[in-house]
Amino acid sequence: MSLKRIGVLNGPNLNLLGRREPRHYGTQTLAEIEALLLSRAGAAGAALIFFQSNDEGEIVDWVQANTDRVDAWLVNAAALTHTSVALRDALAGSARPFVEVHLSNVFAREPFRHTSLLSDLAVGVIAGFRASSYLFGLEALVEHLGARGETGADVAE
Ligand code: DQA
Repeated sequence: MSLKRIGVLNGPNLNLLGRREPRHYGTQTLAEIEALLLSRAGAAGAALIFFQSNDEGEIVDWVQANTDRVDAWLVNAAALTHTSVALRDALAGSARPFVEVHLSNVFAREPFRHTSLLSDLAVGVIAGFRASSYLFGLEALVEHLGARGETGADVAE
């Protein structure tokens, strides 16, 4: 079975995880979350590449530059979730499936966080499980890619 290549994308302010509003986002740093994902990736059948930026343009550039290197995206777009047509268009343009994840339960927070410009394009959305949202998202994405393979749509070999 070939590994599923997944681009893990984190948006603005997620570089501050660990010391940023721990009641919403928990206490794990982004480096710890990435290490956690890597520790599970092999067993999940995934190979991961990571990117975080506070800059919308850099994120769009990274999606464009890495589309041919990935089968799917795992995306915590942070505040860009609620605002960015540019990121929505970049993900749509990549023609790669993605799972949207959030550390916090955005639906239990301010109304402006209840709207996502990404969700209707996503395979699914996982929110509220802190760092575990990423792990559940990874599993869901790999299962989704595997299911596509079984129907003949995405068989690598
Ligand atoms: C977030 C939720 C967003 O509303 C917020 O802007 C973030 C993080 C989350 O992971 O819970 O920066 O995406």
